[in-house]
Order: sequence, then structure tokens, then C-alpha cells
Amino acid sequence: MSDLPRVYVTRRLPQPALDLLAQHVQMTVWPGELPPPRAVLMKEVAEVDGLLALLTDRVDAALLDAAPRLRVVSNFAVGYDNIDVAAATRRGILVANTPGVLAETTADFTMALMLAAARRVIEGDQYVKAGRWRTWGPETLLGRDLYGATIGIIGFGQIGQAVARRVSGFGMRILYYSPSRKLDVEVEGGPIYTSLERLLAESDIVSLHCPLNDETYHLIDRDALELLKPGAILVNTARGPVVDTRALVEALRHKPIVAALDVTDPEPLPADHPLLALPNAIVTPHIASASVATRTRMALMAVDNLLAALRGERPRFLLNPQAWGEQVIEVGEA
Ligand code: DGY
Repeated sequence: MSDLPRVYVTRRLPQPALDLLAQHVQMTVWPGELPPPRAVLMKEVAEVDGLLALLTDRVDAALLDAAPRLRVVSNFAVGYDNIDVAAATRRGILVANTPGVLAETTADFTMALMLAAARRVIEGDQYVKAGRWRTWGPETLLGRDLYGATIGIIGFGQIGQAVARRVSGFGMRILYYSPSRKLDVEVEGGPIYTSLERLLAESDIVSLHCPLNDETYHLIDRDALELLKPGAILVNTARGPVVDTRALVEALRHKPIVAALDVTDPEPLPADHPLLALPNAIVTPHIASASVATRTRMALMAVDNLLAALRGERPRFLLNPQAWGEQVIEVGEA
């Protein structure tokens, strides 16, 4: 029997990443289109040294307890709210993610949502396909300009800043809110740091780029939605639960605002979800990072993190350095 480390991969990844993994580990890849059921995942992790997980896999204390040999969880995503990192750290299990590599692609898609909402692209397509296009009309499907509009960017990490670079090319005024102020980007005429309340009240477009954690859960709640200007567009390419969905549905019903959402809560949305019946909501299926090149790079990065850990090296994008300390001590003591 091979003494290569054993790895479970929770979905088919782009082929170059699977090819690379196959050279170094014994792997099982869940073949389904949907995530492996919890019971399958619990059973599969029992024998593995490494887990390559997706944002759809809940990696919590119970799963980690079912995985006595596990040394690393490598997430195929920059967001890691699906993983109980503290529980992994307590067990000395390394956790890694894929930051940076998807920032530009996600920012591109944010622009697509922003433009689609502001210029009514989806409605235009539906209008034509429904046979309603009878002439050029002076007031047909009027939208709003991005040029000269104010955008409020919530979360100013790599993705938020990539969006800021794009919208400055559109001549937009940029406000941003984030836990830490980024003085290096606050050049003349550039992004302006502001309070969340001012950002919500002044922006024509509010775009979410923060991680999901205890501080950002339902950051956009009823009170926040109340502050939005009539006509405002809310774009979410971060995580669904950053927005209180129930409050959003209410606001969209009663206020002339538009939501353009690539992420939702729950995810996926059931076909009869009230959001899907609203003409002022655009919903896409969590595809902001979905370009061929970026998904391939993300997969290779996730494999790289995983293989490094299995070789006893520090993964490049390690989320819990405390666990690395423990592993090093354990190796030293052995
Ligand atoms: C992530 O990486 O967190 C995105 O949501 C999926 O690419």
C-alpha cells in the first residue's frame, strides 16, 4: 500500500490542480455536482491527512473530531466562514485559503452587476425577448449614470480596492468603510474614509466586500437599509449573511432601491424565495470569481497550500499561524 498522504477533495476541481495533486497524494474526489452530504464527509475524513474543501462544506468541530489524522484543511476560496478556524487551531490543524488571486476577477463582476443594475441590462434583455421592443423610445428603460455617482465600498481589502480602481475610471466619487483605515490609498481625489452611516446615506451605490464574521453578520440590517437614498443600488459579492435578507426583501418592496446580489442567504435561494419575485432584485449564482483563469489559479493555490502542509512546510496562505507553532513544536519534540 502506498505511503503517500491521503487527501479528500470535496468536488471536482479544474484538471491542472487535480493532476498536480495526483502526483503527490492518494486522493478521493467527490464526483457529484452538489456538495458531498454531511454523512459522507464525516466518513471520508476519518482516514485522511488533508482535506481540500469548498465554501459549501461546513468544517466544524464535529467534523474535525471525526478526522483524527487530519493535518490541514485547504479552502478553495478566499472566504473561510465555512470553517471553524479556532476549533482547527485547538486541534493543531492548519487552515489555508486563496486570497488575492480572485480580487480582479471579482471586481470585474462587481462592475458587471453595478452596470446591469444602473443601466437596466437584464430588464432590457427581457423586454426584447418578450417581444415588447416596438420602437426607439425617448423614455424607454431609463437608468442612471455611473459617471459622477458616489460609490460606498464596505470592506477595503484587495477586492474593495480593485473595485475602487475600476470606478475611479468611471469618474465616480469613492467613499469607503473598513475596520482599518488605508491611508496609503487616500490620495487627492481618491477614496475617502467615512463612517458606515455616512457611507450608507450618501452613496448612490453601496458595494459589499467584507468577510463574513461576527462583526459583519447582518451589517446591512433594517436600520442600514433605511439610510439608503431612494434610487440607491446595493451590490453584494461578499457573503449573503452580511445582509439581513428578510429586511432587504421588505426594503425592496417598499423603497425605490435596487439590489444586485451574487451571494444570498440562504444559498442557493429556493425557487419560490420572495427575492426572486422582485423586479428590483438581480440575483446571480455566486459566480463573481468564476473565470476559467481565476478558478484554475485558485485551485492550484489551494493545492499548493495543501501540499506544503503535508510536506511539513508552512502553507503560503495560512490562516492560523498558532496551529503552525503547535505543529512545529510537536515535530521538534518527537
Ligand atoms: C471566495 O473565494 O470566497 C468566493 O466567494 C468564491 O470565489
